[in-house]
Amino acid sequence: MELNSLTDVLIEELGDLHSAEQQLLDALPKLAAAAHSYELREALESHLKETTHHVERLDQAFAEMGIRFAPTKMCQAMKGLVDETDDVVAATGDSVAIDAALIGAAQRIEQYEIGAYGTARALASELHLDPTSALLDQTLDEEAKASKTLTKLATGGMLSSGINRKAAERSDGEPVQDPDQNDRTDTDSSVVG
Ligand SMILES: [Fe+2]
Repeated sequence: MELNSLTDVLIEELGDLHSAEQQLLDALPKLAAAAHSYELREALESHLKETTHHVERLDQAFAEMGIRFAPTKMCQAMKGLVDETDDVVAATGDSVAIDAALIGAAQRIEQYEIGAYGTARALASELHLDPTSALLDQTLDEEAKASKTLTKLATGGMLSSGINRKAAERSDGEPVQDPDQNDRTDTDSSVVG
């Protein structure tokens, strides 16, 4: 890789995102199919629809910059994140526990995308590439909303209500320690903590 300018970095970032989004077009239907909760499945399917627009916007961004983009590299980070989802998709056991793991996997993916789109948008803005910056901004907004939806699902009672209460217990029957008693600091995007 040779990087001589911010434009070079932006092109790298956009290429990485293009590969990441393409991988998600394959992975999201599997995550949605593995979801037990209707709301979670809906959220993942709706984000799949948005993802097709994310790919289109990246193509538009390249076109706006006068670049004929040909995918050559795979985003290894997204490959790793998607590989990790395979275990969750194949998991057997309690439906709520599986949904909680699916939310965790989807949140990791969203946070990666939010970081990458935020970087690309900042570069486009620095380079005064306004149409490209606006396209990236739209997608960044949708990624952030998808993450918020996942957080709401995880914290809105779906994982701990009624018959699903047992999912909040460890397999030895002991309740999971109250996260507030841990030294660990949870962030807003922490979904099961
Ligand atoms: Fe996306």
